[in-house]
Amino acid sequence: MPYSLPRINPTQTHAFKMLSLHYEEMKDKRISHLFIEDQHRVHDLSFHWNEFLFDYSKNQINKTTLKHLIELAQECKLKEAIDAMYGGLLINETEQRSVLHSALRNRKNNAVLVNGINIMPNINKVLLQMKTFTHQLHSGEWRGYAGDVITDVVNIGIGGSDLGPVMVCEALKAYQVPHINVHFVSNVDASHIMETLKDLSPSTTLFIIASKTFTTQETMANAETAKRWFLSKAVDASFIAKHFVALSTNSEAVKKFGIDTNNMFEFWDWVGGRYSLWSAIGLSICCAIGYENFEHLLEGAHEMDEHFRSADLHENLPVLSALIGVWYVNFFNASSVAILPYDQYLHRFSAYLQQCDMESNGKSIDRNGEPVNYLTGPIIWGEPGTNGQHAFYQLIHQGTHVVPADFIASAQPQHTEGQHHELLMSNFFAQTEALMNGKTFETAFDELLKSGKSIEEANQLAPFKVFDGNKPTTSILIKKLSPKNLGALIAYYEHKIFAQGIIWNIFSFDQWGVELGKQLSNKITPELLTHDAIHTHDASTNALINAYKQMRKK
Ligand code: F6P
Repeated sequence: MPYSLPRINPTQTHAFKMLSLHYEEMKDKRISHLFIEDQHRVHDLSFHWNEFLFDYSKNQINKTTLKHLIELAQECKLKEAIDAMYGGLLINETEQRSVLHSALRNRKNNAVLVNGINIMPNINKVLLQMKTFTHQLHSGEWRGYAGDVITDVVNIGIGGSDLGPVMVCEALKAYQVPHINVHFVSNVDASHIMETLKDLSPSTTLFIIASKTFTTQETMANAETAKRWFLSKAVDASFIAKHFVALSTNSEAVKKFGIDTNNMFEFWDWVGGRYSLWSAIGLSICCAIGYENFEHLLEGAHEMDEHFRSADLHENLPVLSALIGVWYVNFFNASSVAILPYDQYLHRFSAYLQQCDMESNGKSIDRNGEPVNYLTGPIIWGEPGTNGQHAFYQLIHQGTHVVPADFIASAQPQHTEGQHHELLMSNFFAQTEALMNGKTFETAFDELLKSGKSIEEANQLAPFKVFDGNKPTTSILIKKLSPKNLGALIAYYEHKIFAQGIIWNIFSFDQWGVELGKQLSNKITPELLTHDAIHTHDASTNALINAYKQMRKK
């Protein structure tokens, strides 16, 4: 059924005008003073949800800010958009698709309709196929062409067919099943696949070719290389059936590549690539942590889905996070958000979120097809603490940019080794405290005197040791990084991104911005295969290509 999301320029709303006035009051307020103004601040801005604590109190907001932000969401018809998404309406309008990654983790199994057809039976069929395959692999029933058990699984995919599964497999390494190693190859740079394959044996390796379209240049090139590598030992092409499976929406292309469609795990066009780890694309996750843990991941996401769908906007966690983000982007001109997990297992989390957020909301054309006159999706970046502290925190503490940051940590570590966790967590708490409170000139000056400096020296040095503070942070404390809690955490960010896209009046589920580079590289590839000088591009590109050709000569 054709459907149109509302077309509302957020800056033309009454709430936005109120927020602009309110910003003038708030912009110089100290977050630390807001705690004095409102004794209930921690209570009102912290939310216990399942095994999570979301603390928004160290943000430059007060009750009035939230009131206007929620009015903004209402004027932008966020609730209606949420209902439209869950209702299977074609909210991905430029591709005329529904957006139903939530159906993939719909553990209640109630009907989800697309064009009047319940999609749950097909989802359940593929889940069963994934379960059976995973059990066969782990039990040793699935054997390679020479009768050996499979010891290594190589997922070949890129973007959403890589980043989500890699992130989850890393995050849940503590749940890794023994005897199976899962590897990921994404880059078209052959070093990636060659380095991965160099210690593997074709008779014990299984390839998962993960590609929604099954046309992506990088994935197809790597898949062909994997096939050549495999056949160089196995020789007989009929053995491919035991060593290659496909995750895709494109059965024709899968067949053409030579993979038996019995070994294909299907998904559907209403699953966006960057939202696909819950679909068949999660097969590598099942291989790594077992199907039952994959189900727990789905359960956690489902609980967050239910929360996002039904909770009032005032206590809706993804909505609050989205609105606070909009406040910083559109009023404080914050151009980036740092994702700082104090959990080494989450070391690929910000890389994963980069695609999820930036490919979704990195848009400058609104839903009317007009250029926007306001900022939209921020740059997402980050590294785990405490590593980041010794690298880029300098800029967050004393630089000139506003960098709202999410600090994420687990109360219960996966390992108890000495006092590592206490050291880690003391940094987690100290950083948000330091970012909020900063350090005054007087304190810096006194500290210098106490350390033995003269008054003159202290006066000279103190300005460099001042921390303005008032840097906004959100703390997300998780009881434990279990599969279920990880599922909920990912879904929290997915829905935050959706809510922001609705407010910014953009389409979050297409990605036309990745097309141009692909088109041009397809034109350049044949040019690189000749010895001729190239004159078909701009002067700089011609010169670069021709210099490359010279350098490439032996
Ligand atoms: O180029 C971007 C993109 O289309 C992503 O959106 C997607 O996740 C990735 O490429 C991989 O696509 P596919 O799964 O079709 O190979």
